[in-house]
Amino acid sequence: MLSGSLRVSGAKNAALPAMAAALLTDEDCVIEDVPHIGDIAIMGNVLRSLGATVEEVGEKRLKINARDIRSFTAPTELVVQNRASFLVMGPLLARFGEAASSPPGGDVIGQRPIDVHLVGFATLGAEISWDGGKYAARARRLHGAKIFMDYPSHIGTENLLLAASLAKGTTILRNASGEPEVVCLAEMLNKMGARISGAGTSTIEIQGVDRLGGTTHRVIPDRIEAGTFAIAAALCGEEVQLHGVVPDHLDSLLWKLKEVGVPVSCEGDRLTVRRGDCLSATHVQALPYPGFATDLQAAMGVLLTQCQGGSIVHERVYDNRLQYANELRKMGGQVEVEGLIARITGPTPLKGAPVRALDIRSGAALILAGLVAQGVTEVHDIYHLDRGYESFEERLTGLGARIQRVVPEGVVSPVPGA
Ligand code: EPU
Repeated sequence: MLSGSLRVSGAKNAALPAMAAALLTDEDCVIEDVPHIGDIAIMGNVLRSLGATVEEVGEKRLKINARDIRSFTAPTELVVQNRASFLVMGPLLARFGEAASSPPGGDVIGQRPIDVHLVGFATLGAEISWDGGKYAARARRLHGAKIFMDYPSHIGTENLLLAASLAKGTTILRNASGEPEVVCLAEMLNKMGARISGAGTSTIEIQGVDRLGGTTHRVIPDRIEAGTFAIAAALCGEEVQLHGVVPDHLDSLLWKLKEVGVPVSCEGDRLTVRRGDCLSATHVQALPYPGFATDLQAAMGVLLTQCQGGSIVHERVYDNRLQYANELRKMGGQVEVEGLIARITGPTPLKGAPVRALDIRSGAALILAGLVAQGVTEVHDIYHLDRGYESFEERLTGLGARIQRVVPEGVVSPVPGA
């Protein structure tokens, strides 16, 4: 059983766009509560390759200066390693009139087009071309425009916020993403001198300004990390307290946890979660915020194997994010997948088995499955996990879990890009 408390890290998906925002100014930007994870290391290297300096100045504080940018092309070998590297396009284009990048990599969880970004840049006046495996965008100066986003893409919205902040005139984004990380970015940009209103709603208005300055900005707590630990506690927590949580950001998860019978309580920024005695099945739909987060869908799927009855998980954000079901079945989970729907029957006693992390979130979910499984679970390919969670197994071990990292012989660092 897990017991004790831990503090939630700063949000990966808020720190990454904040790092890209530093490209919009020649002054220093200091970003606080930046987690030590692989994706941040990759983004740091992307910024350095463009000519920015990125230094750690104190515990989890990054100072970035983009005065001497000498390249407007993000290096392909880095861009293919994560999704967020493509966020350098908006600021480079807006500040220097030129930006190029290969299509970004990232987790293999379904189709991940970037048309929303490109259509948005073009609507702001950029000329977009595709050459030698890269998209190039050019504009003497971007101009404000009304943009209807076909899909409320999370980093698509961020890229357009970054670009429109330095455009001439007013931009209106309709059908924008309302994820809390978008709000965090808008707050940072406003501190730098941008004029953005409506972030957090589906309509965002950006009045372009001529220049932006430096700032110090603390990123929001990681709601996905908090949610993952909350589900761990729901599976096997005597009592786990999570500090530094924004409970509003976790509404959809807390609602579902209560619905299945998990004892959860919130006081200020502290969330207390215990294992429920008899959990009941439910239906979950992964949707854009404030819907149930797709990034918590796999962990929730693990919890549902321990709930009484037939549950349904409907993944409505990505078209290939239920593959972890194959791994869970190796552990004895009763999970049937048809298209975007998983049917989970429980409660099933899980058994330890060798399984594979397929992406950041399924890696975490399988570790949670291992916590309640009888016997030893081996989770392979955990380099995925290291891109998104800081010291995941150490923090669970601190709560009483028995997890050991086994670094294969000859591997120097399990964190790519670190
Ligand atoms: N989509 C389009 N057109 C586009 C962009 C996206 O149709 O131009 C579709 C995709 O096909 C997908 C859906 O929109 O079906 C969601 O994609 P979105 O663009 O919103 O996701 P993202 O911005 O690439 C971010 C997070 C993901 C998180 C999603 C949803 C970052 C760096 N990544 O991705 O995080 O799952 O939003 O909230 O912020 C993770 O942290 O493990 C992770 C995958």
